[in-house]
Amino acid sequence: MSMLASYPSASASLELIWAALPFGIGLASAALVTAKKAAGWSLNNLIPTASLRPGDSTHDTEFKEDQDAFLTRCETEYGSMFNVNLHGKHITVISGSEIQEVFMNDSFSPTDAFEEMTGIQTFFNSARKSNHNDDLHIIHRVISQIITPKLALFTVRIQEHLETTLDKRLGAYARRDNRIIVEEPWPIFKEMSAHAVAAVFMGPESAQSPEVIDTFMASIDDFAKMFESSTRSVSLLRKTLFRATHRILSPLQVHVQSLVQATTPIILERRRREMDAAERGVEWERPDDVMQSMLDNFDTYNFVDLEDVCGHLLILVLTSLHSTSDVATKMMYFLAAFPDCIGILYREHQEALDIVQQEREQMRQELIQRGLPIGEQLYPSRDRDVSAAALKKMVRLDSFIREMFRFRSEKLNMYHRARNDVALSNGVVIAKGRTVVINMRSAHQGPDQGPEVTKFRPWRFVGKSKAATKVAADFLPFGMGK
Ligand code: HEM
Repeated sequence: MSMLASYPSASASLELIWAALPFGIGLASAALVTAKKAAGWSLNNLIPTASLRPGDSTHDTEFKEDQDAFLTRCETEYGSMFNVNLHGKHITVISGSEIQEVFMNDSFSPTDAFEEMTGIQTFFNSARKSNHNDDLHIIHRVISQIITPKLALFTVRIQEHLETTLDKRLGAYARRDNRIIVEEPWPIFKEMSAHAVAAVFMGPESAQSPEVIDTFMASIDDFAKMFESSTRSVSLLRKTLFRATHRILSPLQVHVQSLVQATTPIILERRRREMDAAERGVEWERPDDVMQSMLDNFDTYNFVDLEDVCGHLLILVLTSLHSTSDVATKMMYFLAAFPDCIGILYREHQEALDIVQQEREQMRQELIQRGLPIGEQLYPSRDRDVSAAALKKMVRLDSFIREMFRFRSEKLNMYHRARNDVALSNGVVIAKGRTVVINMRSAHQGPDQGPEVTKFRPWRFVGKSKAATKVAADFLPFGMGK
């Protein structure tokens, strides 16, 4: 509040200071910062704070009424960086070219920002026994070392499980005029994703286990509740209670224990088969799921026991399942809102599979002519898998998804907290402990997005070499890839 009150004089003097300074002011700005600090000023006072509308005590109402209008006003009045008072927090909005600096500088921590808002660190740590102080670096390593190299394999497995779960579930819904009515799509996508994630993370045995699926679904509900509190003002008392509950009672431990119970017989059976294969002198066909790779790298990742491995798996489940089922649900709403696209996307899908099928047939013929065997990978039964190769050909689907991400993003999102005083390249210093938020509007509605940026144009990116999976300064739904 003190910052809001002090805004007019602080910002006026700021403008004078910056106007008087030449470009390349590293030393001068450092001296200025030191002087301000010595005088007991917050470094963030150098950033103007957006004025309040008469009668408003925070920016929440103005922001909620029209996010675009609010941000346009602030950008016009204050430029690319300004402070706001939103969701019970004083935060600095970062726009334009400085966004990349926030994402790529390790001094800006998303985990710390979420910890402050929600207690996420305490939440995650209550699931695991080791790696408490490494942010989520072990999880990053599991993703980059285990999951990413096997994405092509996992894509097909995911597709299979999404389809079988959908087929099983749709029978439970009402049918009218030859249509199936699903009024609440989120639970069905959650369940579909739970099966797919179980198959990839823990293997086919777990994907069939009702205990594992129920555990995933229940933990996602816990995660969603915790996550949602980041976009609301939550009282300090509630946050303190949340942290205390997770530190002392560790409710996530119930889910971890369920996973331990479900995985113990699976792991024992795998060990038995491994030993059996060793005795017979044949190679054991090692399961290619994430859990097996985590067990194989037990020491590398500093795990302490199976409970700890399951705790880390649960964190992976929480981070992946919530986002993917949420996005899948939103995707359905966009398809429902733009029904003309459905036929076009369906035709593209069929055509892509036809081409892949022909390409695979050609490969088989070449192998036959050279007298070579056709490996399992090229079996005709797999010709119409929705493989990575097939997805690459679905350029309209990719554009639709990218446009959905661009269009649906929260206008202010992705909080980061400064772990040190951080000097940005424009000379402005973000003080240690300050929370910044990304102005997604400036990234997703800039001139490089093409015409009519406020409209949903499904084929905006067709032929533009801008894939829905490619993070960049003009596409931030996944951050910048860190
Ligand atoms: C459509 C799906 C997804 C979306 C939109 C999404 C989006 C995001 C975003 C915006 C962040 C924050 C990035 C930052 O602040 O720099 C994030 C973090 C994270 N995501 Fe995803 N994600 C998705 C799927 C997944 C999947 C499938 C996994 C795991 C296999 C995953 C694992 C993680 C992890 C571990 C983090 C935390 C990184 C950290 O704080 O250190 N996400 N995700």
